[in-house]
Amino acid sequence: MNKIRNIKGTKDLLPDETFIWQEIEEKIHHFNQQFGYKEIRTPAFEESDLFKRGVGSETDIVNKEMYSWIDQGGNNLTLKPELTAPVTRAYIQHELGKSNPINKLYYIDALFRRERPQKGRQRQFHQFGVEVFGSEFPEQDAEIIIMGFTFLQSLGLDDINLEINTIGSKSIRGTYITVLQDLLSKYKHDFSAIDQQRLDKNPLRLFDSKDPKCKEIINETAPTIYNYVSEDDKLHFDKICSILNDSGIQYTHDQKLVRGLDYYTRTTFEIKSSSLGSQDALCGGGRYDELVEQLGGSSTPAVGFAAGIERIIISLGNQIQQDHKSIDIFMIFIGDDALNAGINLANNIRKKCNLSVVTETLRRSMRSQMREANRLNVNHSIIIGEDEIKSNTAIIKNMKNGEQINMDIDKIISYFIKE
Ligand code: HAM
Repeated sequence: MNKIRNIKGTKDLLPDETFIWQEIEEKIHHFNQQFGYKEIRTPAFEESDLFKRGVGSETDIVNKEMYSWIDQGGNNLTLKPELTAPVTRAYIQHELGKSNPINKLYYIDALFRRERPQKGRQRQFHQFGVEVFGSEFPEQDAEIIIMGFTFLQSLGLDDINLEINTIGSKSIRGTYITVLQDLLSKYKHDFSAIDQQRLDKNPLRLFDSKDPKCKEIINETAPTIYNYVSEDDKLHFDKICSILNDSGIQYTHDQKLVRGLDYYTRTTFEIKSSSLGSQDALCGGGRYDELVEQLGGSSTPAVGFAAGIERIIISLGNQIQQDHKSIDIFMIFIGDDALNAGINLANNIRKKCNLSVVTETLRRSMRSQMREANRLNVNHSIIIGEDEIKSNTAIIKNMKNGEQINMDIDKIISYFIKE
């Protein structure tokens, strides 16, 4: 019979790699706690309209990459391709702004985009991200940029580069878009069908085009959006830069950085790694002051970022330590009665001594069980055979120096508490 395999672009995380994920996840929780951010979890799927209205229907994510379907009840649903829109939906729905003027949230989650799989690009992938609702001020942008950058540094990544820009508030967007359309319309016939559509409907998205011809025209012809932003936008941007300077965070001002999602206003930023190849963005984010209102809430400034966990792990490469979480005790049983007594003893040791105990469930010979204890590299094995059952004792073997002692079962807990 044919074996069923996982879907292209998805990945099983096997036991010899999940420890890396656990370590990174623990660090994310600890790091966010240090900054006073609280975790939010949202459902795996949402109404498709949330992403069309939130992320923008001309973006690659919505236009080409969403996993959407109509369910048995006729609802148009989508597996979440990103989390800013769902978290904003939850913020509005649960009126989080009412109880607190500032909400600093973070998440670790799985996302789904039907992109062409390659190194660092999957169809199901994972992000760690933060979203902050309530502050319009540049110190909030600076805080999250510093978080993203120092988190990656704290993992040991030192080949990372921060690029930042401001694309201004929505009020200047109209002027810039008219200028772009005027300048680029004469090249319209050199563009692919999708880029022609972008030129008409949302020319900012031409910056995401992967078509070399379009890229060349944009590079040579398009003015940068930074030249059109207002004095207020520039002041906001300059304050972020001055905080980054004083915090010793190096960055480049990339005047072309617009990012591929429609909700951004003012700040945009990305952190890239030179060890990643073509999919080099580890982290991306920015300000989105109009999204809450656009999704039906009251006007609330917001800013956030998300970092791809698979890409972080690829960049860490062989810096990742071997799994060092070890097992303390292996419980060896010989015989049916020993099995019951041993399982009970193992449960008590776990509960009262806070140690990890692995018990035998294959009914192997004494020799094979001892070999298993060695393979697990445990500190002690506890052996219970028929003789021990008769005398209500067990043998404790120190696996590091080979010493063995025979002890009443009732005294074993206090022995390991003292150890
Ligand atoms: P994004 O740039 O689409 O932004 O994704 C953020 C990060 O997720 C990327 O820099 C990359 O590391 C990772 N990523 C994206 N697509 C894939 C993929 N197919 N496979 C593996 N990793 C991937 C957002 O998602 C925004 N919601 C970020 C944000 C939060 N902006 C404001 N708040």
